[in-house]
Amino acid sequence: MDSFLIQGGRPLCGDIEISGSKNAVLPILAATLLTRETCIIRKVPDLSDVHFMGKILRSLGADFTYEHGVVTLQAKRLKARGDYDLIRKMRGSICILGPLLARSGKASVSMPGGCVIGTRPIDLHLKGLKALAAEIHIQEGYVHAKAGRLQGAEVFLGGRVGPTVLGTANIMMAATLAEGVTVIESAACEPEITDLAHFLIAMGAKIEGAGSPRMVITGVDRLHGAEHEVIPDRIEAATYAMAAAATNGEVTLHHMRCDHLAAVLDKLKEAGVRMEARGTSLKILPGGEINAVDVSTQPYTGFPTDAQAQLMALMLKAAGLSIITERIFESRFMHANELARLGADIAIEGPSAIIRGGLPLSGAEVMASDLRASAALVIAGLMCPGRTQVNRIYHLDRGYEGMDQKLRSLGAKVKRVKER
Ligand code: EPU
Repeated sequence: MDSFLIQGGRPLCGDIEISGSKNAVLPILAATLLTRETCIIRKVPDLSDVHFMGKILRSLGADFTYEHGVVTLQAKRLKARGDYDLIRKMRGSICILGPLLARSGKASVSMPGGCVIGTRPIDLHLKGLKALAAEIHIQEGYVHAKAGRLQGAEVFLGGRVGPTVLGTANIMMAATLAEGVTVIESAACEPEITDLAHFLIAMGAKIEGAGSPRMVITGVDRLHGAEHEVIPDRIEAATYAMAAAATNGEVTLHHMRCDHLAAVLDKLKEAGVRMEARGTSLKILPGGEINAVDVSTQPYTGFPTDAQAQLMALMLKAAGLSIITERIFESRFMHANELARLGADIAIEGPSAIIRGGLPLSGAEVMASDLRASAALVIAGLMCPGRTQVNRIYHLDRGYEGMDQKLRSLGAKVKRVKER
């Protein structure tokens, strides 16, 4: 397994381009199953999760090609049963269930298990599809769903901790081909959902209210091929903004949407990070001290759970106590113990992490446990003096396009070490 060797303690300086959003593109790729016609998706990040999704779609019978950030897809004929082992390996693949069922009248998809950040149930996905008149049963690790034509219905998708992002995507996609009107209440409002809605509308779907908690979808008989450009990755942008602040660097992020990052930028401002937003660029400026801040993760428009670990790394620099409360996933603090190897003082109390920042840090060998935890370890490695080795960086390759190259272009000393 590859690792990153980071020689830390140097400010990041320069310009980088933010890639297309991983969490927007995965459901968009799944949505192409809703039509027999060709779809072209642009600004697709070169990520292992994207290629893995391509493999899943191919295994269902679709033609999938990836060339320089452009995916061309056509699913003329479809198999209703997904490859158990392929689908099981990527949680995001659950979003093929809705389109497959809507297009073929049946779908069998492996039941996703829990993962390192929490249990990740799919009860809301299944509740929504049942409301649209699908029959669902779980057998031998598969979710088997079948329906005649799906029927529009009112569906409440609010769960234990609020809306579900991929659950909303699944029901929205299924409802585009259902008979009649579907109203999703407590829909996820994330920009990735709005982006999916834009793609579906380009395919001929009738969707109102995307980006708000109440979405109304009027089913149509068929969808056609479409072209779409994926939105910039707000979490990648947040990660580099925090890395720049953590190293007291001067970095301009290009091709980004500051409006998708209001909660993150507000927190960075409170922490004393100097920033200048201009159109689709954001410049992080070197400044003075970083202040300790408290934050709770929330569904959009709140502070995203996917930027929580990176903020924790930044807070190691702030003198005083900061409290980070994780409200979306129950065990998303795996990075805390690894940060401790660098000298961090972090106590976990229930859903909160209490960080005593401002202590001296020094490089060490650490282990990445999931995508965002890995990003936090890289940020910490960049800011502390000495050599940090981050092992198991395949997690980073799932969600950050060319992270080592982008960091090197900002002057960081980061080397990818291939496992022999
Ligand atoms: N939940 C339920 N029942 C369900 C579905 C979800 O109780 O049927 C709960 C979850 O256990 C969790 C909460 O609802 O407590 C929110 O989960 P959600 O369904 O919104 O998560 P997701 O759609 O599976 C996506 C992203 C995650 C991101 C979350 C929250 C993709 C591929 N994944 O997951 O991204 O953390 O939304 O914003 O879009 C990442 O990129 O690192 C990542 C984990």
